[in-house]
Amino acid sequence: MKKINMKVILISFILLLTLQIDAYSQNEHDTLNIMRKGPHLIFNGNNTEMQVFWQLNKTDTCLIKWGIDTLYSLGNQQIYEYGNDHQHKYLFTNLKPGNKYYYQIKVNDNIFDGSFYSALPENSDQVSFFAYGDTRTYPATHNNITKKMISLYKADPNLQTFILSTGDFVGNGDIESHWDTYFFDPSYSYIQEMLANLPFQSCIGNHERTGKLYRKYFPYPYISDDFYWSFDYGPVHFSILDQYASYNIDSKQLNWLEKDLISTDKKWKFIILHEPGWTAGFGHENNINVQKYIQPLCEKYGVQIVFGGHNHYYARAEVNSIVHITTGGGGAPLYNPDPTYPNIVITSKSNHFCKIEINKKILNFTAMTPDGEIIDHFILKTTE
Ligand SMILES: [Fe+2]
Repeated sequence: MKKINMKVILISFILLLTLQIDAYSQNEHDTLNIMRKGPHLIFNGNNTEMQVFWQLNKTDTCLIKWGIDTLYSLGNQQIYEYGNDHQHKYLFTNLKPGNKYYYQIKVNDNIFDGSFYSALPENSDQVSFFAYGDTRTYPATHNNITKKMISLYKADPNLQTFILSTGDFVGNGDIESHWDTYFFDPSYSYIQEMLANLPFQSCIGNHERTGKLYRKYFPYPYISDDFYWSFDYGPVHFSILDQYASYNIDSKQLNWLEKDLISTDKKWKFIILHEPGWTAGFGHENNINVQKYIQPLCEKYGVQIVFGGHNHYYARAEVNSIVHITTGGGGAPLYNPDPTYPNIVITSKSNHFCKIEINKKILNFTAMTPDGEIIDHFILKTTE
């Protein structure tokens, strides 16, 4: 009798364990099947606001809650889809600049959460952020890079600000499935964790093609039907360019850029574009229009750094004290940089990201691999 009881208990235990494992796999499977893209954050330039976007696989009920901790006591709202592709968005407003907020999106019984810092106060003189680009082709590599950035901002909350991207998110930006598989695939959990916790601030790359789907998922406050715009964050002004619209002399974009640079009183001014003016060859040559039209404005209005990508490696060039960074090692197949190209200071054929830390008049720039190996470091000082 005792033997039979033991056998029954053992079989019941195994059965229960199997059911629990099945239930766990089912839950995880359900979660992956529910959220198609996101949640992902965008900073629109207003330091009392933050936008979150997400896309479901089917019409479903969503509740968003937010607060200054995980009690989410500041508010909650039911969110209905917009457009015709199960997209959702919410604009957090009345935020106190430079404060941490937490949010949670509930889709039926499935929970997706994230957090962010509202952008710094206007008069703040310190800021840190990450920059990288060309994340297309190998999401596993991209995932590994984001894993390192997440570990850094978890160790130092000053780094949980935003991420700057130099474009080329996916293989072909006009193909919907490329956004699903190259960029928003929920199984690449670190990429998704980064997108849910750091606003993603980008320029358009050539791989975004017409930009139709890029605009769908990254609706920044563009100036016109093209993809250029600008924003302030603490002591920095960022001008984001669209190199697939004209920026020749007398073009709308170049006129806008000049006015944009004249009108800012920020100490630090950076330009973000996809195709660098000075880079290290082997992939794409130097972009002559950047040399002809952008560089003179940088010299005239005190832009310190131009961030580019397009070539899949790291390179730093310096031209009349303006630093031109090629940060294209976010996941695309690596190219061989040629360190003998004009004005090149240093190159590295590495997957990498950049960490920029500004403290008043001093800027510390570090480029590092996902393993934490430092491939470049330099300091800039502003005279203002
Ligand atoms: Fe490119």
